[in-house]
Amino acid sequence: SMADGPMDFGGGTELVHDPRTDMSLAMLTGPRDREPDRKFTLTAEKKTVELSPGKPFEAWTFNGQLPGPELRVKQGELVEVTLVNRDIEEGATVHWHGLDVPNAEDGVAGATQEAVMPGQKHVYRFVAEQTGTFWYHSHQHSQEAVKKGLFGSLVVEPENAEGSGAGEDDLIVMTHVWDGVGLAIGDRSGIQRKKVVPGTPVRLRLINTQDWLRQDYTLTGTPFRVAAIDGTELNEPRELEDVRIELTTGGRMDLTFLMPDAPVFLSVGRSGKLGVLLSRDGAGSVPDLPAKTTAFNPIDYGEPADTAITASSDFDREFEMVLDNKLAFYNGEFGSLYTINGEVFPNTPMFMVQEGDLVKTTIINRGAVDHPMHLHGHHMLVLSRNGEPSTGSPWYSDTLDVQPGEVYEVGFVADNPGLWMDHCHNLTHAAVGMSMHLMYE
Ligand code: C2O
Ligand code: CU
Repeated sequence: SMADGPMDFGGGTELVHDPRTDMSLAMLTGPRDREPDRKFTLTAEKKTVELSPGKPFEAWTFNGQLPGPELRVKQGELVEVTLVNRDIEEGATVHWHGLDVPNAEDGVAGATQEAVMPGQKHVYRFVAEQTGTFWYHSHQHSQEAVKKGLFGSLVVEPENAEGSGAGEDDLIVMTHVWDGVGLAIGDRSGIQRKKVVPGTPVRLRLINTQDWLRQDYTLTGTPFRVAAIDGTELNEPRELEDVRIELTTGGRMDLTFLMPDAPVFLSVGRSGKLGVLLSRDGAGSVPDLPAKTTAFNPIDYGEPADTAITASSDFDREFEMVLDNKLAFYNGEFGSLYTINGEVFPNTPMFMVQEGDLVKTTIINRGAVDHPMHLHGHHMLVLSRNGEPSTGSPWYSDTLDVQPGEVYEVGFVADNPGLWMDHCHNLTHAAVGMSMHLMYE
């Protein structure tokens, strides 16, 4: 049966209580017994902005900025973020997309906390244990909140100079679709220019926050490596050329290269009209894109390394997620609903696990469109894609692009107790059904 009000896949502001567990989710917090190393305040507020002249846009902002402020912390730091909701009547939260924080800090309205209403605040605390490229966004009416601007980037830098990413010129490239502007980097369309001294190691942190679309990127002017996927460094990534990056909604990839003497251009899409031009003096003309590129495929990229789970592990639980869509009446309108195992949220299955379990999930897309499946609180190790075993670097994902007809086998260790969302990050799909819970019993 269908829910009969506008459905937020977090379940509104009602806290979920599942009778199958007696675990107190409220206990699963970050450290509260010592001073934080870093403190931030994110104030959610409405603001009318003209990203494109003559087209006012009713934005929802953090700290008046679009996107919200870039948060940079070091690995191991205890981070405290205070969310203040000034005037978003629909409520707000902050979810740390890709960061495996304790459950009570995960920021999901209706699951791990109640939505923060105007005049209220909420304090998040977590130790930044993973390094890498992440983002944050409100997880209350997520589809509308992200579309209107309640999101920003989050980078965890390695704590010592030996770590990956140290000493690099590091640039966030966040792609989003804004009302009145269309596809943009940050909040701007067009070509953005950066000065980089030749010989400098460069890291481009690609983050795709737009709802709906897989975005492609082409880097010209230098060979490059895909150094990280969804915040996790790859093992011995090899150099690539004429390879196009396709990034799913909610996903991240870090590209690294040594800055050459001549300009380098990261093209967003293939028009050559949106991108970042890096050069010695910030000048230079945009080079032509390669005539022919192949899509980056992580399945055999890089070198294998030991992992806690492998395809031949003795799994404690095996689940199947069949992604599809069906036409049905919803809120009096006939339209497409997006289903997991034939059901829409909240009737989708709940996967139950115990702490320490090795879990395998087979994800099958029987529908006609992409589904970027996002699991909170855990990283999925890709074991196989369309029957082809993963033979390269361990490939961990938190937002996996499952395209029509594709079948993925993924594994994860159930090492982060709580109640977690697992949903399509095409938030339009999540809002009409494609969402479920993972629950520790
Ligand atoms: Cu980035 Cu459940 O979300
Ligand atoms: Cu989807």
